[in-house]
Amino acid sequence: MTPEPQHLTGPDDRIPAPPPGCPAHGAHGVGPGGLHRLHEAPDLGDLYEQLRDRHGPVAPVLLHDDVPMWVVLGHTENLHMVRTPSQFTRDSRIWTPLKEGMVKPDHPLMPHIAWQPICSHAEGDEHKRLRGAVTAAMATIDHRGLRRHIGRATQRLVNRFCGTGRADLVDQFAEHLPMAVMCEVLGMPEEYGDRLVQAARDMLKGTETAIASNDYIMGCLSGLAARRRARPEDDFTSHLIADPAGLNDEEVGQHLRLVLIAAYEATANLLANTIRRVLTDPGFRAQLNGGQMTVPEAVEQSLWDEPPFSTIFAYFAKQETELGGQRIRRGDGLLLGIAPGNVDPRVRPDLAADMQGNRSHLAFSGGPHECPGQDIGRAIADVGVDKLLMRLPDIRLDCHEDELRWTESIASQHLVELPVRFTPRPQQDVMAQPSHTPMPVPQPRTAWEISTVPATPAPSPEPVPDEGTAGATVSAGPSRGRTAVAAEAPARPASAPAATAPAAPTARTAGTTGTGVGIGGGTGTGPGADPGGDFVPDRPLGAWQRFLRWWRGY
Ligand code: HEM
Repeated sequence: MTPEPQHLTGPDDRIPAPPPGCPAHGAHGVGPGGLHRLHEAPDLGDLYEQLRDRHGPVAPVLLHDDVPMWVVLGHTENLHMVRTPSQFTRDSRIWTPLKEGMVKPDHPLMPHIAWQPICSHAEGDEHKRLRGAVTAAMATIDHRGLRRHIGRATQRLVNRFCGTGRADLVDQFAEHLPMAVMCEVLGMPEEYGDRLVQAARDMLKGTETAIASNDYIMGCLSGLAARRRARPEDDFTSHLIADPAGLNDEEVGQHLRLVLIAAYEATANLLANTIRRVLTDPGFRAQLNGGQMTVPEAVEQSLWDEPPFSTIFAYFAKQETELGGQRIRRGDGLLLGIAPGNVDPRVRPDLAADMQGNRSHLAFSGGPHECPGQDIGRAIADVGVDKLLMRLPDIRLDCHEDELRWTESIASQHLVELPVRFTPRPQQDVMAQPSHTPMPVPQPRTAWEISTVPATPAPSPEPVPDEGTAGATVSAGPSRGRTAVAAEAPARPASAPAATAPAAPTARTAGTTGTGVGIGGGTGTGPGADPGGDFVPDRPLGAWQRFLRWWRGY
């Protein structure tokens, strides 16, 4: 779209300019030509519906500095755009307002606008080369092990707050779980921790320290890439480096960052949105508890109703064309309207009707750039929500629903806090399946022996089904299994013997697996112990230890 509003063409966009002195002219939220400024809208969802009524499925709007843009509101039109690379590209360098200097270097959207050597901005053969390396590295991920790891990371996070009876699930859960999982996937579990989560949060908020936070993250990722170039292992980063596409150091670093941040931000939003819905919508929760809806179906519904990215900035027209009745000029920019596309009345005449089993939402986009990490994002949300509810079945909101706050930008809507209460519960062994009748956290052993007769009676663990296969509720695939989230069970008193063991070093003792081999010191008090759940290896892992790590999922 060209900068001057009078250049807008099409049946519905001849908006009469307000007469001089008209109060609407320059009014908050409305710019030149009567076009709406998206960034000033008090309620973007509301504005999208007004625009749909007025302009149809593609509407002209303004961004910061009154930079013109189209927003694509129709489901079909969005799909057409992302699936037609001959007409639309993600390469911002052809965007007319950028070429004409209308977009200044300090434009707030510059982090999204500035072209980078990453697959998101590439097209054609270059896109195939970069994306091919990412998807080939993803294909090496063992999904059974991944789900097991997600389960254990969930257990560790819940162990941090389960004894208190209160938590903020955004700060203490939703923002941590994807980061813990992605650090494992990339091959840097040691780097996972509060500092990395804070750096990612800070960077995305664009605060004054955002550049330093970005540098910190890039420092972690370049260190990882250098280590793996020197000594490859069986992880995403090593496979990305070894791919025949031959990514250089800059490309490896930028794609590690893309994967880490895309996964962190989107999946944290998805987790928070799904849990909020469970806590605030009694019908939704009843369907889950009653077995009419599985957790993966609940997650899918959330992807329709509250997609983690509301819009994607942006696609650009490679030639003059027509979309949704509007004439689009070469070099025009178009926002991929995920949130408005998902509520297009032509595909969802009744927004209250559930969309169970229907995955045709736009949350992961489509076409050549369709999110390649969607199975990982879904798995984190499915397993994380399922196991959280399993551990804390009486979890409830700890404020009035109206008090919940969001930070909203054109790109996404992010829940600020999700305070909850629940009956305080003891910690659980991260190696075990979550339960609301938990097994005690194993006590650290003080001495090791090689014997078939234990010196002290070991806790008798319940038989634990394999996490990779158990429970239809945690399947990310198109499974139609309908195992309900467990109904509430009476909580065990917080002072129950043994089960209330403090955050004793746990996971890395042989007693929990029956292997008879301790990892990282055995007594649980050495550097390999896992008091807060963050694993710090004390020496390079040998083949047996790597096997065990794969088997355990972390
Ligand atoms: C619920 C979680 C997620 C959502 C909603 C989501 C959504 C998206 C969307 C909308 C895009 C843009 C597509 C376009 O340009 O048209 C995208 C791209 C991408 N996502 Fe995701 N994503 C999620 C999780 C992940 C995860 C877990 C990973 C990695 C493990 C990932 C990696 C990527 C990459 C590499 C791209 C760029 C693909 C390309 O341009 O070819 N995403 N994602």
